Amino acid sequence: MINRETIDNIVTTARIEEVIGDYVNLRRRGVNMLGLCPFHNEKTPSFTVSPAKGIYKCFGCGKAGNSVNFIMEHEHFSYPEALKYLARKYNIEVEEEVQTPEQLLELNEKESLYNLNLFAQQYFTKSLLETAEGKSVGLSYFKERGIREDLIHKFQLGFSPDKWDAFSENATQNGYKREFLIKTGLSLEKDNRLYDRFHSRVIFPIHSPSGRVVGFGGRILGSDKNRPKYVNSPESDIYNKSKTLYGIYFAKNAIISKDNCLLVEGYTDVISMHQAGIDNVVASSGTSLTYDQVHMIQRYTSNISILYDGDPAGIKASFRGIDIIVEQGMNVKIVLFPNGEDPDSYARKHHPSEVESFVNENAVNFILFKTRLLLGETQNDPIKKAALIREIVNTISLIPDSISRSLYVKECSALMAISEQVLMSELNKILRAKLKKSSPGLDKELEAIPVEQIPSETQTDIDLYSAEYQERDVIRLLLLYGHDIIRIKLRNTDEEEVSVQVADYVVNDLVNDEMGFENAIFKTIFDEFHKGADIDEIPDGNWFLSHHNSEISLAAVNLVFTNYNLSPNWFKNNIMITTEKTRLHMYVMFALRAYKARKLDKMMSEIQKKLAVESNPEQQRDLQKAYLELKKQSIRINKDGLGRIITR
Ligand code: CTP
Ligand code: MN
Repeated sequence: MINRETIDNIVTTARIEEVIGDYVNLRRRGVNMLGLCPFHNEKTPSFTVSPAKGIYKCFGCGKAGNSVNFIMEHEHFSYPEALKYLARKYNIEVEEEVQTPEQLLELNEKESLYNLNLFAQQYFTKSLLETAEGKSVGLSYFKERGIREDLIHKFQLGFSPDKWDAFSENATQNGYKREFLIKTGLSLEKDNRLYDRFHSRVIFPIHSPSGRVVGFGGRILGSDKNRPKYVNSPESDIYNKSKTLYGIYFAKNAIISKDNCLLVEGYTDVISMHQAGIDNVVASSGTSLTYDQVHMIQRYTSNISILYDGDPAGIKASFRGIDIIVEQGMNVKIVLFPNGEDPDSYARKHHPSEVESFVNENAVNFILFKTRLLLGETQNDPIKKAALIREIVNTISLIPDSISRSLYVKECSALMAISEQVLMSELNKILRAKLKKSSPGLDKELEAIPVEQIPSETQTDIDLYSAEYQERDVIRLLLLYGHDIIRIKLRNTDEEEVSVQVADYVVNDLVNDEMGFENAIFKTIFDEFHKGADIDEIPDGNWFLSHHNSEISLAAVNLVFTNYNLSPNWFKNNIMITTEKTRLHMYVMFALRAYKARKLDKMMSEIQKKLAVESNPEQQRDLQKAYLELKKQSIRINKDGLGRIITR
């Protein structure tokens, strides 16, 4: 326990701009400082630091706090860890409050284990790099595997010599207690003597997220069939296998900044990927993924890509681990390597850029992956197919978010050639069963009904004022209400009212005015509506939600499930839909007008730019004429109903 006085001292001494300045490039902007947010990906800075107030806030992702919070968030430290970090930075002596003897004992014991592990890591490193045996045996093994020296240093790889008790003896001589040698598992006891668990192996230290060595993996050199390929540290007070991910310390910042975590099987996969410049990668080290491991990753990202070596048995064995990820509401993708290759071997044979693009291009959504894999096995056997449906729907039912669930139902229905209704009713059966089990009372039941959630990324990635906003809004209306009927007055026919479908009207109106879309995805969606309207088959907005082009389906999902103007709560309760629906006519008109006005503004400012540099009087006149034409159009559009006032 750090005492109050020390805490105050640390908090007042630590200047926020210096603390954050270690991680973020800050520029002065008025009284504040501005930089790129380290907590989310952004290209224009919205991360603001106020030296006067001692706080930071990111207007992009909403993260905010003081210097201690920043260190906690950024380094994933606990409160006392963050305080100690700052104390070290500012040379403040940390006075800790006295603890109970039990607390002290436990703390001391853990510290002793950490200390011993640190000593062991240094011993193994020295053995590898500085002894004749280490160099000729260990180092040449790593070299043979193509592991570069900088990676050997980074991962603190080591070597344990071919003598039964070399390490145990050295550690004992250096005053390390037998008790701790056994508790860390570095030594084994037999007939009252200590033996080295890792003797005659190369060593992979395993680090905690904050970089302390919690355990080791040791690999035999070569391929002796009589010894296990790897031995690992046993569980201890500081090493819990199911809560550890190999490489997390070296990967965490990259996982955050790339917002994705690559999961591989083994030590060498992690190292080879790093060597190929891919550093957001961790290994579950041979065990199937546990809840705690998934939870650890979730602190940094909600996206996981699992890299498999293409052995179907292994993949199936890991389905349970993947279900755990799905259950956490995280996104899982699978990257299958060509037969016989694992990330390690692939990375060694290919150029780093090839590895990166291989991973990016071959990442398949897990549910689709699973469907395809199992579908390949059912081979039209109806009984097997029924089992497959249940299996897939079971996985879908684990997804906490109902929107994602229905999207997967759509995709799987297409993939398996089974009607959506069949899948849906199967899904509902499972969901109902779960509800019953988890909450017998009615109130509870209501509570447990999943509320449609807005995917968080859509909230931050929408810039209300961006040029695309108007384009988005038009497409959004098409997707949501394309089939709905509005009544409009025809301009040339004396107030006669007619009924038209929204998509029909929107398409006609924009095509008449020769207005195109800048955003390629929106353009594609619009063109599909255009084509459909021409042959009287207006596409269903839902169809885009499961569009085969994932960029389109993603855009459609984002558009349909966000509303820029209203709070998410409005949306949840469907208020937005009802208000918009009842005044659909107005919303459509408004969106079209805003869209055109924006387009015209842009075109006009283009002309102005050209005018500014044009010297030929003839050309100047033409430009001015074009400008006036646009201006007229703009005035017409702006005064058409709704009384929108032209501000410029
Ligand atoms: N593993 C283990 N004990 C074993 C075999 C494997 O703990 N007897 C763990 C290790 O963490 C290993 C991972 O499972 O890294 C993956 O196993 P494997 O693919 O066999 O090892 P690689 O990491 O590929 O090692 P190498 O390339 O050196 O064979
Ligand atoms: Mn391997």
